[in-house]
Order: sequence, then C-alpha cells, then structure tokens
Amino acid sequence: MSKFLHAKAEKNLLVLFLATFVTVSIGGIVEVLPLFTIESTIEKVEGVRPYSPLELAGRNIYVREGCYLCHSQMIRPFRDETERYGHYSLAAESIYDRPFQWGSKRTGPDLARVGGKYSNDWHVRHLIDPRSVVPESVMPGYPHLATTPLKMDAAAHLDTLKTLGDPYSDEMIANAQADLAAQATPDADTDGLLKRYPKAAVGDFDGQGDRLTELDALISYLQILGRMVDFTKFDPGQADR
Ligand code: HEC
Repeated sequence: MSKFLHAKAEKNLLVLFLATFVTVSIGGIVEVLPLFTIESTIEKVEGVRPYSPLELAGRNIYVREGCYLCHSQMIRPFRDETERYGHYSLAAESIYDRPFQWGSKRTGPDLARVGGKYSNDWHVRHLIDPRSVVPESVMPGYPHLATTPLKMDAAAHLDTLKTLGDPYSDEMIANAQADLAAQATPDADTDGLLKRYPKAAVGDFDGQGDRLTELDALISYLQILGRMVDFTKFDPGQADR
C-alpha cells in the first residue's frame, strides 16, 4: 500500500477497523480451522481409564469441599515443578475429569501425583486434623467426612457419564454399586473390580472397616491421582501433542 493510502486508512475509523478485523480473522482462522479436521486434540495414553465408582464419589467430595481452591492438579513442564512433583501432567490424564481440576491456586502443593505418596492412615489423620501431622499447615480439617456415611447411586452416575462419552461398559454399570462397597471393604473379592479398574487402590481407607464413609471415597480418589500412566514406559513422542 502506498504511503498515501496508508495514511488515509489510518485516519478513517471504519476502514481501519475493517482492515484490522480482516487481518485478525485470518490469524484466527489459520489457528482454529485445522482443529476441526481432527477427531480429537487429546491423544489417548495407555493406562488412563475412567474412575471407579468409589474414586468418582471421592472426586465429587473433593469438588464439593472446594479442595481445588487451594490445590492445583496440573504439573507444568518446568524443571522446578517436575523435580518436586514428578512427570509433567498430560492432557489425557484429565480426560475423564468433568470439570477438570487443574486449578490456578496453590496454597497447598499440587496433587496431580499424590497417589501412593502417603499411606491411607496418613491421609486419615491429615484430613481429620492436618496439624497433627504437619504442625505448620494452614489446611482446614474435614473431620465430618469420617462420620458421614457414603451415599451414591453409582449405576445412575456411571450411566450419566456414559451418555457424555465416558467408556463405561454395561458390565461396569451392572457392578457399580457392588464395586463401590468392595473397593473399601477389607478382604473383599476385588478381582473383578481390579480387572475393570486397573491399579485402583483397595482396602479399608478410613480405618473403620465396618463402615463406608465419605472419607473412604476421598482417600481412594487421592490414592489413584497420577498413578494410571506408567511413566517408565511412556514415550512422549506418541502423545501429548
Ligand atoms: C485453605 C487451603 C486448603 C484447602 C481448602 C485444602 N488444602 Fe490440602 N493442603 C493445604 C496446605 C497449605 C498443605 C501443605 C501442608 C500440609 O501438608 O497440610 C496441604 C496439603 C495437602 C495434602 C498433602 C500434599 C503433599 O504432597 O504433601 C493433601 C493430600 C491435601 N492437602 C488434600 C486436600 C484435600 C483432599 C482437600 C479438600 C478436602 C484440601 N486438601 C483442602 C491447603 C489446603
């Protein structure tokens, strides 16, 4: 464009607006259009599976209690984060999170890979009274979880998630209520459960073997976080892009 035309366009509000709009639109289209031609922007990663009924119940309690207000669940690919928390988070690891729990606030540590870091007993004591195990902690206690019986229509919940696209099979839905209890019952037959939900933590979570409480559910959820993908075998070239 000649100098003259440029000067004119700059001084005419409508022309300048239209030219800006066209320029910005081209940039937007170039970025957005390719996304419509691929089926999914998140590649599947081996090991990632839908949550078991008990883990799902725990996730709901996590959201209800607002744990995300102080805890993120996304390890960014920076050295200071990966050295503290482990392998950076993959998009696929949040694929069954509705809504995702990435968070934007870290009053407490990131929890994306907290599974297996502590014993169930540590979690019980920490969730009931954080300062009994970490004296300087500012985290509130959640003692009511240990006394609140867990209530969940597990089959209906899985069925709803299935309509949204989560791959719950008919077998998973038929066994949902039984799986919910079996995962937290000491010495229960968990073979079927572990086939349906590999790597699920099983056993008595809250230290009260005769009762199924909200604390059982929350701890079962915390114990699976970050454990689904085997990072000794993970090849970043295959996914994550
Ligand atoms: C007011 C902010 C706050 C809230 C809300 C909160 N936490 Fe924390 N959390 C912390 C802080 C601070 C720490 C670090 C000190 C400690 O271990 O207690 C922590 C630590 C933790 C840890 C140990 C993490 C590690 O790697 O050492 C777990 C697990 C945890 N919180 C779970 C939860 C859960 C589950 C909830 C919701 C029921 C919750 N927190 C709610 C602030 C919070």
